[in-house]
Amino acid sequence: MNIKENLSNRIKRVKPSVTNDSNRQAKELIKNGIHVFNLSNGDISLPTPEIAKNAAIEAIENDDTKYTLASGKEELRKAIADQYNRKYDLDYKYQNVLVGSGTKNVLFTLMGVLCNHDDEIIVPTPCWPSYFEQIKLFGATPKIIECGIENNFKLTAKLLSKNITTRTKAVILNSPNNPSGSIYSKEELAELAKVLEKHDDIFIIFDDVYSEIASPRSSFYNIVCLSKNIQNRTIIAGGISKNYGMTGWRIGWLIGPEEIISASSSFQSHSLGSAVTISQDAAISLLNHVDESPFNEIFSERRKTMVEELRKIKELTFIEPQGACYIFPSIKKLVGKKYDGVILKNSKQFCELALKYGHISVIPGEACGLEGYLRLSFGSLTSAQIKENMFQLKQFVENFR
Ligand SMILES: Cc1ncc(COP(=O)(O)O)c(C=O)c1O
Repeated sequence: MNIKENLSNRIKRVKPSVTNDSNRQAKELIKNGIHVFNLSNGDISLPTPEIAKNAAIEAIENDDTKYTLASGKEELRKAIADQYNRKYDLDYKYQNVLVGSGTKNVLFTLMGVLCNHDDEIIVPTPCWPSYFEQIKLFGATPKIIECGIENNFKLTAKLLSKNITTRTKAVILNSPNNPSGSIYSKEELAELAKVLEKHDDIFIIFDDVYSEIASPRSSFYNIVCLSKNIQNRTIIAGGISKNYGMTGWRIGWLIGPEEIISASSSFQSHSLGSAVTISQDAAISLLNHVDESPFNEIFSERRKTMVEELRKIKELTFIEPQGACYIFPSIKKLVGKKYDGVILKNSKQFCELALKYGHISVIPGEACGLEGYLRLSFGSLTSAQIKENMFQLKQFVENFR
């Protein structure tokens, strides 16, 4: 049997995660004793807060290790709703919250609940690559809107308005953004909301997984705070991975209208089952006691170092990120130049050359839906590591002729 040919058409349409793949290639070189400057890793090298660790240990000791309801422990759903209500002056109940195994997992559930064949989901790019593939897995079409550097990589009301069709089911907004680090201001979100208010049947998916990683912290604004009309059709997707440095605990959530949450719970009852109980217990203690990320300042310092070091590489132009743990420089000055006799055509080729000759792992802008750029991650690098290693990228780039 030709096994590959017999796989589903669904999986044949899907590209594997570029971030996972780049990371795997970098780790392979490292295993062979080669020093690789890894700027492709989306992980966070910060310790899990003690309060979460202690709650998990207690859960194990108390044998709180059985299934929970598919939507998550009621206590955790309430802790999440309460935290949003405290932080943004909202009125969510636990019935508005679904807990899953990370933000990636709950977004997958949400796409399963929303997407029909022929639906379009508006995806402003650059963006987190998994949105495209999750939408495609459920037979819908990602309607890509390229938001260039001239718009600070953000969707504008004009672009949104131009791209809405009768097939539009939802629009995804991610703030702070992976990979650009851009943050939507209240005014910018209000402009987008004005357009959406004319289209009652379009959902808003608001991915705020980096909500606490913003400089200043107050620059983050949640779209649901704009009006009841907007809140009633927004589904927030968030989690503890980035804000609290707890990527491996795998806790994420959806917050939205009860009908969506109940449908998502039904979906999850046949897929995930329930999120890991020990992790749920850790998240309850954490979210009931810690509203602000303990790492905001560390991220700001890493971002500042990254910006300072990148400024030394004249061939890579960029705008300063305001949040998250990425920077998205342009390679347009290098395209058409030669490296070791090879003419540079695009970001994918840049990444291949960078890994092969410079031992630097980076993600091509193409994977994030915007060609001509690179995604550099610094979530897993200390400021000292950034300072020590950025010369490697500088040297590599300076070898283009
Ligand atoms: C924008 C965005 N959304 C969601 C996720 C998934 O996060 P989680 O670890 O909670 O699954 C990521 C992870 O990199 C991300 O960058």
